[in-house]
Amino acid sequence: MDDSSDFIEPASADDDSSVLSNDLAAVTSDYDPSIYEHQQNTASLVGSVTSSVNEHIYENGRRYHRYKSGRYPIPNDDKEAIRENVRNALFFELLGGRLHLAPIGDNPQNIIDIGTGFGDWAIDMGDRYPSARVVGLDLSPIQSVWIPPNVEFVVDDVEDNAWIHGSDYDLIHLRMTAVILKSPATVAATAFAHLKPGGWIEFQEVYPRIGCHDDTMPDDYVVAQFYRLAARELQRQHGWDLYAAEHLPRQLEEIGFVNIQRKVCHVPIGYWPKDRHRMQHAFLFEETLTEFMDVMRAKPLNTDVHDILPLDDDNKTPLTAQDIDKLCANVRTALCARNVHAYIPFHFVWAQKPN
Ligand SMILES: C[S@@+](CC[C@H](N)C(=O)[O-])C[C@H]1O[C@@H](n2cnc3c(N)ncnc32)[C@H](O)[C@@H]1O
Repeated sequence: MDDSSDFIEPASADDDSSVLSNDLAAVTSDYDPSIYEHQQNTASLVGSVTSSVNEHIYENGRRYHRYKSGRYPIPNDDKEAIRENVRNALFFELLGGRLHLAPIGDNPQNIIDIGTGFGDWAIDMGDRYPSARVVGLDLSPIQSVWIPPNVEFVVDDVEDNAWIHGSDYDLIHLRMTAVILKSPATVAATAFAHLKPGGWIEFQEVYPRIGCHDDTMPDDYVVAQFYRLAARELQRQHGWDLYAAEHLPRQLEEIGFVNIQRKVCHVPIGYWPKDRHRMQHAFLFEETLTEFMDVMRAKPLNTDVHDILPLDDDNKTPLTAQDIDKLCANVRTALCARNVHAYIPFHFVWAQKPN
């Protein structure tokens, strides 16, 4: 079996990413420009924010942001910092040490990272491009104070305010952030207005429709079940779309972006790869999903706070805490299994504002 399942494919307007090709032989090249020929023709504070931006809220043994409290149900504590570090390493490995795929040249001037989290990507970009001013924007003031001199962090709500902290951007970057926005298209449209002509937007997103390279994945595969439950509850409780990545190419095209490209990486779930790099991806993913289950148990899947119905539509009896613990235990077992050759896709989508 071939486990070299990392490929590049064009993002066409009639693309249906819910059906990802497993025929790797068919995917041999980078973007085909003919598809878009027709188009070629230390955190500072913002707005009226008070000192509450620097405060936090503690619930269920975890720490959460206080500014725009409740907006983001994922913790911002030290445990989350480690999960984000590990995920940062996974992205770094997937891109072979690159931080982005958009061709921004060697001397970009202005870069912004929307939903920067603990700021790892923004700090790395500041180091890599001394020519650039790099802004990291987030709801939480959680970023390191030990940062390169060309990096700054701002606390802001990208969905409520005129979030642009500067303009004429060479690159506007969002990683794992489209999935948590109420409207990624609205944010992308604002980005379009504030990019310099020829500037780029780039999304790096998980796309949790679990796939399999052969027929080893059972219909009731627990990792797929966990993501379906998480996606439904995050949609119901917060309006998130965990499958937002599939709509990005089309949305960017509608806004007026050109040169829209996509790279899809299949991250192995379980200890099945023969290749040691891909095994490393599996280990890093195992770590982030294991921690993500704790994150979900603390709030969105907390049965003391929410009635969580089973995935089976006919069953109206809410799941108990034990039911969810059992599901998570089964997922932990699946994350170490060798007999199911499953993967989770990560999408990289980048596009250019016309010159
Ligand atoms: C999943 S994390 C991604 C962090 C980072 N980009 C990374 O790749 O590790 C999403 C981040 O977006 C931030 N966020 C959520 N809603 C936001 C909003 N409306 N405005 C600004 N930041 C937001 C959260 O605080 C969180 O740090």
